[in-house]
Amino acid sequence: MTVREAQDEILRLKKEKDFCILAHVYQSRDILEIADYKGDSYGLSVQASKTENKNVIMCGVRFMAETCKILSPDKTVFLPNPVAGCPMAEQMSVQTLREFKKKYPDYATVAYVNTTSELKAECDVCVTSSSAVKICKAMPENKILFIPDPNLGNYVAEKLPEKEFAFYDGGCPRHKSMTDSDVQKSRQLHPKALLLVHPECPPEVVKNADFVGSTTEIMSYAKNSGAKEFIIGTENSIVEHLQYDCPDKEFYPLSVNLFCPEMRVTTLMDIIGCMNGTSGEKIELNDEVMTGAKRCIERMIALGG
Ligand code: 13P
Ligand code: SF4
Repeated sequence: MTVREAQDEILRLKKEKDFCILAHVYQSRDILEIADYKGDSYGLSVQASKTENKNVIMCGVRFMAETCKILSPDKTVFLPNPVAGCPMAEQMSVQTLREFKKKYPDYATVAYVNTTSELKAECDVCVTSSSAVKICKAMPENKILFIPDPNLGNYVAEKLPEKEFAFYDGGCPRHKSMTDSDVQKSRQLHPKALLLVHPECPPEVVKNADFVGSTTEIMSYAKNSGAKEFIIGTENSIVEHLQYDCPDKEFYPLSVNLFCPEMRVTTLMDIIGCMNGTSGEKIELNDEVMTGAKRCIERMIALGG
């Protein structure tokens, strides 16, 4: 089967079996081309609550498929490749969270959306990279325990000096590995380029950036900017997508290490298998976790606007 034939088969099965395909922008181009909606984690959460089809396939990582199931419990939600789990989302156990909360009894707990549903069920609200500042600002509580990414947490804390923060020592293994030396090297190679980075990068990288934002915010900034060259400090799929979208501009990766294997593991053939019932995973969560995590995600959507 060629890529084109696989895409045509997915489009046919979508109609025949009433599937909607949601895709995170880190997915490969062949998947983005057949998706009904593509976006960052916040956009996907909002879209997940609006879809009308009976079946939803989430091309991204497990926590995104779980968020979709929680917001649309009557729909059948699939993760087309069960290996696609975000390592950051799975790095903190519920037990660790409970012990951590005991150390900060008068703090509200904010979970980055890149967490398991079990963790969300024990938190007050969740946030995404594009909504974190807005939501933490809107919260009535002034003391915030932020899990699990201290880099995003630090970025939010810098913007909200009126609030007090405590962080867990987690983070995205890929963004976290970026250093000031990566910034210096790429700035030397591309002196005219603007540096656009994701807030999951360490503070030493964020403070030297020309723009900090979520995946789709980085894409919009690059598309709307008058500049012609950009160094991209997030997963390298974004470099490729931007290069297709803006052929008159140049995009460079901040580092070759900005590669997320879990986000890249899903293929068109996984989607076909999922639609035919031969592969993929149907998302199922217990009622208690669903109820707790739903409260946390719905508060995010209410405060995120
Ligand atoms: P966004 O919400 O910015 O799309 O980020 C998701 C993610 O996993 C970043 O690594
Ligand atoms: Fe998770 Fe990092 Fe991959 Fe994003 S890039 S899905 S945060 S491991």
